[in-house]
Amino acid sequence: MPPVLGVIRETAPGETRVALLPEHLKKALAPVKGGPPGWAGVVQAGAGERAFAFDDAYRAAGAEVVPDADAVAARCDVLLAVGPPGADLIGSMKPGGVLLGLLDPAGGGDHLQACAERGVTAIAFERLPRITRAQKADVLSSMSTAAGYRAVLRAAALCPKFFPMMMTAAGTITPSRVLVLGAGVAGLQAIATARRLGAIVEAYDVRAAAREQVLSLGARFVDLGGVSSDAETAGGYAREQSAEEQARQREALAGVIAEADVVITTALIPGKPAPRLIDAATVERMRPGAVVVDLAAPAGGNCELTEPGATVERGGVRIDGPVNLPAELPVDASRMFGQNALAFLEELRDDGAVRVDLDNDMVGPACVVHAGELRLDAARAAPSPAPTEEAPS
Ligand code: NAI
Repeated sequence: MPPVLGVIRETAPGETRVALLPEHLKKALAPVKGGPPGWAGVVQAGAGERAFAFDDAYRAAGAEVVPDADAVAARCDVLLAVGPPGADLIGSMKPGGVLLGLLDPAGGGDHLQACAERGVTAIAFERLPRITRAQKADVLSSMSTAAGYRAVLRAAALCPKFFPMMMTAAGTITPSRVLVLGAGVAGLQAIATARRLGAIVEAYDVRAAAREQVLSLGARFVDLGGVSSDAETAGGYAREQSAEEQARQREALAGVIAEADVVITTALIPGKPAPRLIDAATVERMRPGAVVVDLAAPAGGNCELTEPGATVERGGVRIDGPVNLPAELPVDASRMFGQNALAFLEELRDDGAVRVDLDNDMVGPACVVHAGELRLDAARAAPSPAPTEEAPS
């Protein structure tokens, strides 16, 4: 009997993604030439409907569609989920089963404890090391790509001006100025998207290495003069800056922010609250009609006035704090998630059976619960090599 892969309907408010679309399920079910047999698939009814993937398509792909999530959990050897399922559902899983998804290991929910109690292995994509070999399974980068793109569309919709320059019979329209703060995966995609829409784009990051990627996308890198712009760790991520450094940075950035029509913020330090880049006084200096889209809203926000999940207005400036931008692109975000998940599933197969090999350099760091034990610190202590992402084209 091939091992069983389970797909459920996500329950988080506003979630539209599904962990595997029928196209990926079909691939998972097919035996690999010269390799192990494929998986068997059990899918909850309605699992993909918000991503426009209906039950018949899953059946046509070879899956069995069952009415409820408990029936999926009880039957599967690996349960694939976009976000953390509830503790009740985990209680229905087979002891020894594997839960794989974006499990929010830093969030402190009770689902990981539930996994430990049930003897379920939990593997969190958030902890996947950013090494070259793991890129094919890098769900976080995929979701940040979706978020960076979508953030620009939100900003363009909120902005009372055109993004591109236009020469019209009604005169010449000047292009909007877009400032992107944080040039990681999401920021670089935001730069590329804003450029495609014709805006003048500037960007800033504390890592000096980001400058070249920003320039390669045709944007200007903001130079903060005397304020150091290299806060890169040996691992390639930004380090947390001191309060004094942050204050100097905020002050130096304020003038650039005040000139922008749109500011998109994506600054993040792994495992820390989002750095504060825009305070209320800077928002007061912005021109009426300006827009801030703060991608760091779920981590506390890069802007002091951000309210997660809301768009607030202060002095004519709108500050948008989206919390799940990939869910606004359910088809492609699910497609990217599924493609990454398929790549990871290959790491869990050994001679046709499911095997969790903690010595595997992708599985070990991402495994946050195993054999009844929480492994949060073990996973965190794993080396985090330099990010290998490339600037989007
Ligand atoms: P990343 O780690 O690749 O990039 C973060 C960037 O911020 C890095 O380049 C880092 O050097 C930079 N940074 C850190 N401190 C800074 C500072 N003080 N000033 C300027 N730059 C600074 O992260 P990624 O994947 O690009 O994600 C960006 C953010 O978007 C994260 O907060 C992530 O959680 C969030 N996100 C939000 C979503 C939403 O729906 N709101 C969806 C997906 C991601």
